Amino acid sequence: MPKVSVILTSFNKHEYIAKSIQAILDQTYQDFELFIMDDNSNSETLAVIEPFLSDKRVKFFKSNIQTMEERVEKTRYAVLINQALQLAEGEYVTYATDDNVYNRRRLEKMVGYLEQHPKVMVVYSASQTRYLNEMKEITHSITRPARTISWLAPCMTDHCSVMHRMSILPQIKKAFGSYWDEDHQFYRLGDARFFWRINHFWAFYPINEVLDENYITPKSIHAQLFNDSPNQFSKLLPPQRTCKELREYLRALRRRDEG
Ligand code: TYD
Ligand code: MG
Repeated sequence: MPKVSVILTSFNKHEYIAKSIQAILDQTYQDFELFIMDDNSNSETLAVIEPFLSDKRVKFFKSNIQTMEERVEKTRYAVLINQALQLAEGEYVTYATDDNVYNRRRLEKMVGYLEQHPKVMVVYSASQTRYLNEMKEITHSITRPARTISWLAPCMTDHCSVMHRMSILPQIKKAFGSYWDEDHQFYRLGDARFFWRINHFWAFYPINEVLDENYITPKSIHAQLFNDSPNQFSKLLPPQRTCKELREYLRALRRRDEG
């Protein structure tokens, strides 16, 4: 059985996804399986993914989502991740997206940390986020540090910068009924919502090194939701729940536990 299960979600990012997949396959740490969970992308994107499928580490699944109505009914990447988690065999789980590029030593460093710290359940790293315009030029870039042991992970880190033990999942499911929350009120904050669940029980431990680069493109969910002229996708979604709400809830939980 592989030590690490990497779960990559994909939808229509043909310009970026090859780089994302290649960076995973080229890791210095090689004992992993890679789930490529595609949400029925266009043929351009599927053509880019296809050459990678002969790699024995790659497990490919494609949904059969057809309409925009189906696409907004649930937080799609949460649905795909939950499907992959049912099949994943690793001792550790980590996530990727089709617009994120892992540093070559990301798995090595995160696995190393968890191996050295048996009581730590979740580790996160610093990351670099680059914002791209329509011409794929970088308009600005921010580094997200990973300095503190965090009981407030929602909206402080992204799921592409996290690795957790598989063994946390039964407790999450018992407490909340599922692993990732598929509720479409959290489409914008799906990972923050998952971290909110984790933070009920466990803290996130830092590796303060940039171990991935994240790209926000005009197609990103974030960009679509904050666009001045809402498109069909953002119009069909319900009002999105907020970082503030998730973080305030966790703060109150901590105060109660400490008080
Ligand atoms: P992305 O557009 O990169 O959003 P952001 O970076 O602003 O959070 O989408 C995040 C992930 O969701 C990406 O890996 C693809 C996946 N996704 C689906 O699986 N199905 C969908 O219908 C959409 C819109 C996204
Ligand atoms: Mg993205």
